[in-house]
Amino acid sequence: MNRTIDFSLEDRVAIITGGAGLLGVRHAEAIAAAGGVPVIADIRRADAEARAAEIAKRFDVRAMGIECDITRAESIDALLRTVLERAGRVDILVNDAANNPKVETPGQAFSRLEKFPIDQWNADVAVGLTGAFLCAKIIGSALAKRGSGVIINISSEYGIIAPDQHLYRKEELPDDQQPVKPVSYSVVKAGLHGLTLYLATYWAQAGVRVNTISLGGVESGQPAGFLARASARIPMGRMAQPNDFQGALVYLCSDAAAFVTGANLVVDGGKTIW
Ligand SMILES: NC(=O)c1ccc[n+]([C@@H]2O[C@H](COP(=O)([O-])OP(=O)(O)OC[C@H]3O[C@@H](n4cnc5c(N)ncnc54)[C@H](O)[C@@H]3O)[C@@H](O)[C@H]2O)c1
Repeated sequence: MNRTIDFSLEDRVAIITGGAGLLGVRHAEAIAAAGGVPVIADIRRADAEARAAEIAKRFDVRAMGIECDITRAESIDALLRTVLERAGRVDILVNDAANNPKVETPGQAFSRLEKFPIDQWNADVAVGLTGAFLCAKIIGSALAKRGSGVIINISSEYGIIAPDQHLYRKEELPDDQQPVKPVSYSVVKAGLHGLTLYLATYWAQAGVRVNTISLGGVESGQPAGFLARASARIPMGRMAQPNDFQGALVYLCSDAAAFVTGANLVVDGGKTIW
């Protein structure tokens, strides 16, 4: 009887878009910890290279940091070419990059629906949704052609439930100036799971599994009042830590999830079930 479950990502090459961001680095660490080769693809070149060098040293693995703007097909083409030249293969695509407005941080711009600028909408959709589509089209097509691979779309609790705008409330402001999580964020995150469902069936017989991970909000220096309100809405009583998603990512990327496609794995401390 086989007593092992195969969570290994030994030598598998994983492109992580937005890989230099708060969570992208944690995704890269998880891939490295499971034996894989993380490729940090980010519009911020210096940060991508620096984070990859740190991970290569700390985990004693190959890791790459490559500049890429996922809103431009030619930039993704170049990314794929570079990875194939340098690593010889690609196995996993993690669509993580998004505009992620921190409404709860004082001094940040906020966007009520009535005045939400079309340019902001277009920019948010271009990165979070069109960028994920283009990466799936270009990198996913290469996986399908080869006959195996994994795509993970990083969504949010706000792809499943509406933001409770009371969380962001500032008592000193009148109602029509209250900050809100922008509408584009909900639309992008809900749309990503639609992309997952479409691709999961489209490539089911081509050996490419496609899944969503929906993350709860991460504690990252928000004001104490916000943290208390946000935590009270979560059955487990706290916001996520940046490394709370690593196990889910490794599982879905690995052969342990060989029969899992089109799923939405929700990692939110129970928030969306309340
Ligand atoms: N932080 C949270 O609380 C939270 C909660 C739920 C879901 N998420 C999701 O997790 C993902 C990562 O979030 P984060 O907190 O690490 O955000 P982040 O802002 O720290 O990271 C996003 C990264 O994407 C990169 N990026 C932006 N535009 C790009 C482009 N055109 N091409 C390539 N890279 C680009 C940025 O440079 C940045 O490094 C996002 O999809 C976000 O919506 C985050």
